Amino acid sequence: MESASRIERALAAALARTDGPGAPPRLRAALDHAVFPGGARIRPKLCLAVAQACGDANPALADAAAAAIELLHCASLVHDDLPCFDDAETRRGKPTVHRAFGEPLAVLAGDALIVLAFETVAQGAAGALHLLAPVLMTVGRAVGAPNGIVAGQAWESEPQVALAAYQQAKTGALFAAATVAGATAAGFEGEAWRVLGERLGESFQIADDVLDACAKSEAIGKPVGKDALLGRPNAVHQLGLRGAIDHFDELVAEAIGSVPACPGFAVLRAQIEAQTKRLLPKELAVNAA
Ligand code: IPE
Ligand code: IPE
Ligand code: MG
Ligand code: MG
Repeated sequence: MESASRIERALAAALARTDGPGAPPRLRAALDHAVFPGGARIRPKLCLAVAQACGDANPALADAAAAAIELLHCASLVHDDLPCFDDAETRRGKPTVHRAFGEPLAVLAGDALIVLAFETVAQGAAGALHLLAPVLMTVGRAVGAPNGIVAGQAWESEPQVALAAYQQAKTGALFAAATVAGATAAGFEGEAWRVLGERLGESFQIADDVLDACAKSEAIGKPVGKDALLGRPNAVHQLGLRGAIDHFDELVAEAIGSVPACPGFAVLRAQIEAQTKRLLPKELAVNAA
């Protein structure tokens, strides 16, 4: 099965577990709104691409890890869009969860997605119980303190933060979970895959910074100019557009150079090269030259 179908099927199965007699209907609607239709699904695709490159020995666990990572990503977006963070009105071309359902349900929907992510991993590990703890630890490390998404968002409440530390925590950590968990689910040594995820995540956030500074809101389905408005560290503001693009290229080269030996090495490297080429709009690189 195509990895896109595996991801949507695993996400639908996870969300179905939030149905039940007596469940509050608007919470369920808010959860669906946060997860479907998706964006690029780049993190779960990365997780499955790594699992497949490593032989995909436990596909149910790989699917569960991929779905869990996307659920955590969706939760982070719901919370990131709240008025107390980035106060965003649109996401993926529609109203943000708090705009559609109100702040209390947005907070609760984010919380529910976080819990559901860990339940999803547990559910998917039935055939490979010895891998449950390492996958749970990998995913947990990516979202909490001291270096996960929570830490990344918490840097916004500190008087000063270095750009790289902020981007590594808020974005790099979950990409690292995708590569490490994908390899672990396939029975490979997961930590060997951490640098790949970290570099891809940091480069992805730089591309997102470029979009925030240079794109049109209609094109990306979410507001632009929020980083300048809110004083968030942004690669374009700190390095200039040319500098941000050069740093993006360096990080992508480091990522590609770090792919560990595995049965699907050549295919995976080619996939990463092709995907990273699509992250920065071509015309921006020309304008910055
Ligand atoms: C947006 O992530 C938040 C960042 C970390 C930059 P994505 O660009 O992956 O969002 P979706 O899931 O495709 O909408
Ligand atoms: C998002 O960072 C990272 C998260 C942990 C959600 P941004 O605030 O730059 O992402 P967008 O631009 O809202 O998608
Ligand atoms: Mg933010
Ligand atoms: Mg934001």
